[in-house]
Amino acid sequence: MNEPKNFRIKSFGCQMNVYDGERMAELLSSKGMPEAKEGEEADLVILNTCHIREKAAEKAYSDVGRMVREDGSRPMVALAGCVAQAEAGEAQKRSKNIDIVVGPQAYHRLPDLVDQAAKGGRPVDTDMPAISKFDAMPARSKSGPSAFLTVAEGCDKFCTYCVVPYTRGAEISRPWGDIVSEALSLVERGAREITLLGQNVSAWSGQDEKGRTGGLELLIRRLAKIDGLERLRYTTSHPADMDEGLIAAHGDVDKLMPYLHLPVQAGSDRILKAMNRHHTAESYLKLIERFRTARPDMAISGDFIVGFPGESDAEFEETLAIVDAVRYASAYSFKYSPRPGTPAADMEDQIEADVMDDRLQRLQAKLSEHSLAFNRSKVGQTFPILIERKGKKPGQMIGKSPWLQSTFVETGAVIGDMVEVRIEQALPNSLGATLLEKVPA
Ligand code: 5AD
Ligand code: SF4
Repeated sequence: MNEPKNFRIKSFGCQMNVYDGERMAELLSSKGMPEAKEGEEADLVILNTCHIREKAAEKAYSDVGRMVREDGSRPMVALAGCVAQAEAGEAQKRSKNIDIVVGPQAYHRLPDLVDQAAKGGRPVDTDMPAISKFDAMPARSKSGPSAFLTVAEGCDKFCTYCVVPYTRGAEISRPWGDIVSEALSLVERGAREITLLGQNVSAWSGQDEKGRTGGLELLIRRLAKIDGLERLRYTTSHPADMDEGLIAAHGDVDKLMPYLHLPVQAGSDRILKAMNRHHTAESYLKLIERFRTARPDMAISGDFIVGFPGESDAEFEETLAIVDAVRYASAYSFKYSPRPGTPAADMEDQIEADVMDDRLQRLQAKLSEHSLAFNRSKVGQTFPILIERKGKKPGQMIGKSPWLQSTFVETGAVIGDMVEVRIEQALPNSLGATLLEKVPA
């Protein structure tokens, strides 16, 4: 296979994969390999995969198959991300069309792996090296108005259904100085909003410039001082790691947006225990109450799993009850998918597919009611939105509300502008607005 001259990265799954994809792109570009333009054929295709549920991995393998062109040729293919970590050498047995396998903690070695593949090798690198990949990456070279920044990675929670502790490894917090300098360079390159990422971001801990030890709150208070940065968000949090300081920050840090993604997964305490979640339905609800006391307009988002092994009809009803109690602004809900190597995959009483389908449908119907009600509650309100992309209609732009709602508005404003709008219309997944004025930078 020839040395590739350009590349394309396709990221699946979570926001951290989007972030990793950007970092891989910057790394290859810094070595002189440009990203393929839209419509242009790429010599190297990197599939940055997700392993959290079954279909995502299957999708990655079928995407590999689709890389083969009509004439039988294909680009160099690198399988990256969590499927690569979990499958390691198996991936190349499953598909002869995979040249490189690179795990999420090893992608700083990508240029070297590409060289090996160009010489005919089939390198597999799923090490979790002691030297952080972040130290081996070039500085940030570009940013859109809304940027992701990984501050913590891995997870020590070991929820019994989840592969993340195995694919992303043990929980690590990036050092304070690295995070602050990456945030500064993102803002210099146009970021007005930063979302701090971690599989369990609320477990972040570190030491500031003065040597004071602190958690996410301390970091957020520091980043909020960056001129030109208007909005801060973080995701994903675990209910067992939320502290008083973080709750308080939502009450007094203006740049910290009133939005919290706090997965509950299920409403039954017996199921939560079997999931090893370290919280109960009641402790979760009390926590939400504390956030809403600090910041009354807080929007709550969540993740749900239906059909965890042994979940009875009555236990599923408890999930519906917690949805009504919280009134989620948005949510992600999934059918339980057994992941090889996780404790829940070997549990008895795996739930039948049709029962799962029925539960998912009922849950999603309820979640949609709540998100529409939340969107409707904004009609008539005025607030700033951050313009992120063009809409389909001429002159239409799409921005994000403080509560992460996609908001459509007709305006001459450009991507990266912050504009004040009035909400006229609420749809299930978006808002329609009219323009009031542009907010000065
Ligand atoms: N099956 C279904 N959903 C899962 N999630 C994690 N592991 C599984 C699994 N095995 C969901 C959880 C988590 C989100 C990222 O994905 O709800 O919060
Ligand atoms: Fe997975 Fe649980 Fe860790 Fe979230 S907290 S990444 S669900 S193990």
